[in-house]
Amino acid sequence: MSLIDNINETKVFLEEKGLIAPEFGLILGSGLGELAEEVENAIVLDYGDIPNWGQSTVVGHAGKLVYGDLAGRKVLALQGRFHFYEGNPMEVVTFPVRVMKALGCHSVIVTNAAGGIGYGPGTLMLISDHINMTGTNPLIGENLDDFGPRFPDMSDAYTKAYREKAHDVAGKLGVTLEEGVYLGCSGPTYETPAEIRAFKTLGADAVGMSTVPEVIIAAHSGMKVLGISAITNFAAGFQAELNHEEVVEVTQRIKGEFKHLIKSILTEL
Ligand code: HPA
Repeated sequence: MSLIDNINETKVFLEEKGLIAPEFGLILGSGLGELAEEVENAIVLDYGDIPNWGQSTVVGHAGKLVYGDLAGRKVLALQGRFHFYEGNPMEVVTFPVRVMKALGCHSVIVTNAAGGIGYGPGTLMLISDHINMTGTNPLIGENLDDFGPRFPDMSDAYTKAYREKAHDVAGKLGVTLEEGVYLGCSGPTYETPAEIRAFKTLGADAVGMSTVPEVIIAAHSGMKVLGISAITNFAAGFQAELNHEEVVEVTQRIKGEFKHLIKSILTEL
């Protein structure tokens, strides 16, 4: 089956399960999936039960799709995403965003854990823009004309109006929300200190192994995007060593503030 057939099959399957007219797609990164537990009137599906859907293999990623009401909005939340480093083709990594669009989502909120270049552990960073260092692009191949153009504009991929709203809301809550450029690599290695020095020169403020593919697909189909990184560590060369345990530990520490911020932003978007 073609990609478009798969998207339609999954869309119909999810609609039959009652996932009707979601407004916001939520992609919850490492350790941040708990927000989905606050969804009310929830319909919860295991990834393994959804046709054409990938499988989540990373610690800290639950592998559930949660639909329902959050902060007065109809949301479709992914507890766990698919990474390129897991061996997934980009089509699988970005398939949930295609389906979100097909189901009617006009916006997507993407979150991730990231290493800070300048920003330290515990920082929440609104993503203003990204640099694609994955070595590929999820739109390579036949263009899905029904979704968007062959050569999509990426000038406003991280919707300016949403960023302004996010800063307003953070200010009202007294939550410190920084802003910066996210640089996406393939992983699974963390970066070398030399790479981080290079990325700093290129203008990156945070580095991670996700988000860029999903945002490219969202931007292609005209979805509005809000992106937030939870900085879990100083990037390579700025601290002694890097490990996934620290990433999980820091997300545990800041998840309360993170959840509160996202819910408050949602009510205002
Ligand atoms: N690099 C890449 N990905 C990450 C990092 C990092 O330092 N921290 C959390 N995810």
